[in-house]
Amino acid sequence: MEVIKNKKTLQDFIERQKEMGKKIGFAPTMGALHKGHLSLYEEARKDNDLVISSVFVNPTQFNNPEDLEKYPRDINRDILILENSGLVDAVYIPEVADIYPEKTESKHYDFDGLENEMEGKSRPGHFDGVGTVVEELFRQIQPDNAYFGEKDFQQLAIIKKMVEKKHLPVKITGVSIFRAENGLALSSRNQRLHEDRKEAAKIIYQTLVKVNDWFRVITIPEIKERVTDIFDHQQGMKLEYFLIADENTLKETDFFYKDRNYRAFIVVVVDGVRLIDNMHMD
Ligand code: PAJ
Repeated sequence: MEVIKNKKTLQDFIERQKEMGKKIGFAPTMGALHKGHLSLYEEARKDNDLVISSVFVNPTQFNNPEDLEKYPRDINRDILILENSGLVDAVYIPEVADIYPEKTESKHYDFDGLENEMEGKSRPGHFDGVGTVVEELFRQIQPDNAYFGEKDFQQLAIIKKMVEKKHLPVKITGVSIFRAENGLALSSRNQRLHEDRKEAAKIIYQTLVKVNDWFRVITIPEIKERVTDIFDHQQGMKLEYFLIADENTLKETDFFYKDRNYRAFIVVVVDGVRLIDNMHMD
């Protein structure tokens, strides 16, 4: 596996691959890698000649400086995980100046309102930061295909919107959520939880499964009441939000139409760690 640490080396590498006509699959990360990340590369292996990862803790997408500072970083461990997975041909580990040559700040994007829902309300400026870094990585890596997890469903929707609006020559594929055996969605932030809290946090997944059972049986306001009640009884957990939204607009809904797709979204803070999850409603 090639470990590429600056933009110039990357450009030479990409140029060579393009000359050989290699089809490039790419999935960006912020490191602290786990099996959820690897599932993106497994998917990428299927349709590409070359699979590229990136590890970059993007400062502009953190609206909270403490969260940026606390973000787990261990690049040697990440390189080992990628190498041992046998799934990845190259990893790009840029410096801040390789992505932000001038000011470390976001561009401003209009994602047709997707950016104003859910995480956009909780984390102002977050999606401008995500759009900025992903657009720049796409320009540098020039992937044919790029892979994003449904774990961050709103992020996936926003990237698809950016590609569509800017006519970027890349196909975006969403990859389903990789979960621990107990159902907890894998996340870099889980590292900050004690084992017993990780066990307790499976209630998030279990609640989504129940919500799917209740969906179209009782009303959405009734579902919300039940979910609120479940988390009122969990020690050390705070429900930040729970809602059901149209998968296309990401707008919250209190009722449903037969022929539209819906998804439940939840954010719970467990011992100060913010966990997000979601599930398609059948
Ligand atoms: P990060 O949180 O490191 O996630 C990188 C990618 O892995 C994202 O597409 C995310 O949705 C996916 N992912 C994380 N956990 C997953 C799981 N349990 N199952 C499936 N996919 C999972 O998301 C980011 O980084 C950043 O915002 C980034 C896109 C890299 C831009 O900085």
